[in-house]
Amino acid sequence: MRKLSLFAIAALLAFTACNSGTEKSETTSQDTLSEAVVPAPVEKEISITINAGDDMMYDLSEIKVKEGQTVKLTLNHTGKLPVEAMGHNWTLLAQGTIVSDFAAKAMTAKDSDYIPAGATEVIVHTKLIGGGQSDTITFSAPAKGIYEFICTFPGHVGMMKGTFYVE
Ligand code: CO
Repeated sequence: MRKLSLFAIAALLAFTACNSGTEKSETTSQDTLSEAVVPAPVEKEISITINAGDDMMYDLSEIKVKEGQTVKLTLNHTGKLPVEAMGHNWTLLAQGTIVSDFAAKAMTAKDSDYIPAGATEVIVHTKLIGGGQSDTITFSAPAKGIYEFICTFPGHVGMMKGTFYVE
């Protein structure tokens, strides 16, 4: 008889625990729901760091920002080679740019660090840097859409390119 009542208490406790567990998870799912209904505010500024070394590669192939955001982008050259041998920049291209055509044109613009003067294809770009150097640029994200970014140093576009999404 005593054993039975202990069992009953244990069962009751288990039931209570189970019940409160259910209540808890209901509360949680309600919280999640209300968070989903109210959209999170868009951060005004986003910081992005992209690295490239002597291997002639960016460490990011995709960058995502939101329309209207201020983008603070830092390019770090993590290699050792000088700018004349392994120069890198980060150049954001306007939509509709034929990348291979633009890269061919940029190659000839050595005097302006491979950014042709007045190029309408360029939305924004960093400086051309060598090993151990960094450059930070700040710009407003362009209109929603998909853009491409490249390094305009001669011969680098094949390896150094990526996609920039404005959502
Ligand atoms: Co490069």
